[in-house]
Amino acid sequence: MPRSTLVSLQGPPTERSEAARSEAARSEAARHEPAFVAPAARQPATRAGATIAAGAAAAATVAPGLVPGGCANQSNGSRRSRRSRTEQRPDAPARPLPTYVQMEPVGQCNLRCQMCPIQFRQDGPPHGPPAFMDFDIFTRLIDELTTLEHLHLQGLGEPMMHPRFFEMVAYAAGRGARVTTNTNMTLVLNSRRAERCVTCGLDCIHVSIDGATPETYERIRARGRFERVMRGLQLLADARKAAGVTGPQMRLVSVIMRQNLHELPDLVRLAHRWSMQSMFVQHLCHDFGESTLPAAYRPMREFVDQETLLAEAPQRVESWFNAARRVADELGVDLRLPSTRPRLHPPGTPGPKRCDWPWRGAYISYQGLAMPCCMISTPDRMNFGNVAGQGLGKIWSGAEYENFRQQLSSDNPPEICRSCSVYSGTF
Ligand SMILES: C[S@@+](CC[C@H](N)C(=O)[O-])C[C@H]1O[C@@H](n2cnc3c(N)ncnc32)[C@H](O)[C@@H]1O
Ligand code: SF4
Repeated sequence: MPRSTLVSLQGPPTERSEAARSEAARSEAARHEPAFVAPAARQPATRAGATIAAGAAAAATVAPGLVPGGCANQSNGSRRSRRSRTEQRPDAPARPLPTYVQMEPVGQCNLRCQMCPIQFRQDGPPHGPPAFMDFDIFTRLIDELTTLEHLHLQGLGEPMMHPRFFEMVAYAAGRGARVTTNTNMTLVLNSRRAERCVTCGLDCIHVSIDGATPETYERIRARGRFERVMRGLQLLADARKAAGVTGPQMRLVSVIMRQNLHELPDLVRLAHRWSMQSMFVQHLCHDFGESTLPAAYRPMREFVDQETLLAEAPQRVESWFNAARRVADELGVDLRLPSTRPRLHPPGTPGPKRCDWPWRGAYISYQGLAMPCCMISTPDRMNFGNVAGQGLGKIWSGAEYENFRQQLSSDNPPEICRSCSVYSGTF
């Protein structure tokens, strides 16, 4: 399993049986929820065979979802033919499909968190049509992924904005996959939606909260309301009680930065208050330092420079980390903190020891674009082509993906990996 939620690490193995998941999924699939409407350059370049900074065109031309046989409709910004992107080396056996897949149900959001690159994303509203994964393409991919054990339904957007989010969960859970998601928890608006969270087949909900006080939370999570998140958590707790169940598991996910470091111990208390078994504290995922970065994302670099803990006084970091550890021990919260010391990779370090994402799991954007991982956030920074028409298998074993793995295994990794926190061990 890839270790990363733009990304967070996933929860402990599920105790729920496959039969129970299927049952939950069947009852969920039997219902149909009405569409939920939420409130409210650089030169394209290729590296390691993959399209880098292929441009928002790749995304925009296939929105609002995947187009069946969508390759024909897609401009990926690369002049090379599709065939050359997926062509396998003649002697290469097809790589087994992954057991872990992260799919982006939605590429738009009701919030504008300071650290989130979604604010610069060009392939959904307000720049383009709604950014929802097409349900039929979703089910087709799930059907193709016979190896799937764990589906993480999350990308760069708010998953619960998808009008068929609960059906997606139910569909994958009904096929035996463990399904998890990451949410800003602002859209569990009533007891009906809370009940669906509990019954649809979700194994674990990762709830993103980056401030323990309304002031900090609402500054970082622009457009978010702390009290609304607390209300959503209460509705969820009530729904679990009413159903007489303890699941889905809950995990608090916090992005830790200079501005919220001092609230870390209180965030642990918050996790405990809402009976969350674990808390995953993650560092800013990437410094957006690659030379091919599309110009629109440039402000992210400045934000990371200002907020990264890597540039913070180590004593301050250690002192708040220690305080958080003490509270976690006291309250029995399973706390994971990031390392703030970059890890070097001695010459000859195998690729999967540097970062195992491209071997262990696939990432698929809402349009169907395969990406090496979620840390890259948006497909205009890098993608391997669209899986909507041809399925994942060809691309997963294709030349571009393989070249990327090969370069990641070398001492000259892809530039986009060099400034990634997973690669440097600081996520
Ligand atoms: C991109 S969000 C998508 C799911 C949902 N909207 C949410 O907020 O949980 C997934 C996770 O990535 C985190 N995140 C956003 N920007 C990040 C960054 N620059 N570095 C690390 N994590 C980030 C969010 O806080 C959240 O926990
Ligand atoms: S809620 Fe999630 S997707 Fe939306 S802006 Fe915040 S981190 Fe990004």
